Amino acid sequence: MLNGHNFMVPLDRDSEEPIYRQLIRHIRAQIEGGNLLPGTRLPASRDLARQLNISRISVVNAYAELRAEGYLSAHAGRGTFVAGDRDGNAAPQTTNANQVQVHHSAPEIPVAPDRSLREMLRLARRPGVINFSHGAPPVEFMPVGLLKDAINTVLDRDGSKALSYEAAEGYLPLRASVRDYVSAFGIRCTADQVLITGGTQQALDLVVQALVSEGDTLVTENPSYLGMLDIARTRRVQIHGVPMDEDGIRLDMLENYVLDNRPRLIYVMPTFHNPTGTVMPLHRRRQLINLAQEYNIPILEDGVYNEFRFEGESLPPLKALDETGIVIHASGFTKSLLPGMRIGYVIASRPHYERLVRVKQAADISTPGLNQRAIHLMLERGVLAQQLERNNRELRRRRDAALAAAARYLPPGARWNTPQGGLYLWVELPRTGPTASELYVTAIQMGVAYAIGNVFFTNGSGSYRLRINYAAQPPAEIEEGMKRLGRAWRELACDYADISKEPLL
Ligand SMILES: Cc1ncc(COP(=O)(O)O)c(C=O)c1O
Repeated sequence: MLNGHNFMVPLDRDSEEPIYRQLIRHIRAQIEGGNLLPGTRLPASRDLARQLNISRISVVNAYAELRAEGYLSAHAGRGTFVAGDRDGNAAPQTTNANQVQVHHSAPEIPVAPDRSLREMLRLARRPGVINFSHGAPPVEFMPVGLLKDAINTVLDRDGSKALSYEAAEGYLPLRASVRDYVSAFGIRCTADQVLITGGTQQALDLVVQALVSEGDTLVTENPSYLGMLDIARTRRVQIHGVPMDEDGIRLDMLENYVLDNRPRLIYVMPTFHNPTGTVMPLHRRRQLINLAQEYNIPILEDGVYNEFRFEGESLPPLKALDETGIVIHASGFTKSLLPGMRIGYVIASRPHYERLVRVKQAADISTPGLNQRAIHLMLERGVLAQQLERNNRELRRRRDAALAAAARYLPPGARWNTPQGGLYLWVELPRTGPTASELYVTAIQMGVAYAIGNVFFTNGSGSYRLRINYAAQPPAEIEEGMKRLGRAWRELACDYADISKEPLL
């Protein structure tokens, strides 16, 4: 209800124009035409959504955009109003100093951010946005000079050999270096069980292609790494997400599922799980391996955050506990060294290994030899060890900054983990305000981006969850970003104030 009348909005549900844009257009025209006077209170988002039979996120996003344009204003606890004073002065085009100005010509923000990494990253890359959304490590310390030196040395040493076709399995000295490197974590393997891949992402994709046929099922933790969910979707593989507790994947639920179904592969991140930061304790690691052996289902272990520990005791990867070859281990020198060099690896026993090599060859013949040789030389020169030490020291500082800023700026009732490593805070927003996707547009407009939590879930749950990558920003930006996030939440929360006692879906 609005001023005692129903708020009529002619909506064309068959139009290509998204509903929330139609709503924006209509409300803007009503304000400009003087039909909605300054100071008029608009219906709460839930009420208007119900009345128009549209989703609440459409209303929330329309209000957010109109607020950014200066047509509407929000007052915590009281609701959303037509901006300007009651004497009818025009709504000013207000812009907060820290706010990203939104022009009509700005790229359109989709109503619900696309369930893909790409769409979230596109919005998060807007100028002025503090980006907590991606999975990048600190960029300031990338050893660019050392890479340049390594490439020059390789080219002087190997000449055209460095630029010729490489073996599909990878450059042998690098495979031997990987064998030696992982032996420090207790993984015993030979160089001919190591396959070099284009980053960890390709390692995961190759394992799915080699082991899971179209229509078969892959079991993951729920939530799981978005890149793996994307692989499963593009390879037309079914995903079954098993809930987690504070120790990782729930083995009782996994076993129930495995008993009744025949999944082909179990994918887990035992150390600093993305997005939750969970570390699976040793006893569960052993039980998981036993379960996989009992039902003869291979485990794909993603160890990409294994070395990102800045506190607490290290635990052996699953592959180090594996006596029978049931575990396939994937990781890379991307997050830890140079993401853009795209050097990852997979460690597998036969017969999995041969299938992986065949799939790798079909995918891209081999990972670029120059990159492999340069990374090999950097490993030999001890660059990785230095890099990890430096990164982890800085990560702890950034984690501390993120925890302090979260406590200071996130709304009362918000909760998050205290990670001992990895890159992420996993935040749960209070249910008295917007969901993470409802908040997204306002957050981008305020100049901060995060990863929307429910994209990591296999069943669309986790609406109030969001993931903050604290690793990619220096402490001052972390503080500012959290401040903007808290402000965005408060700005929107007033839309929910009058419905906060109703259970939210
Ligand atoms: C859990 C996990 N696995 C794999 C990857 C992909 O890493 P890479 O850059 O080595 O392909 C990521 C990147 O975010 C990740 O978070």
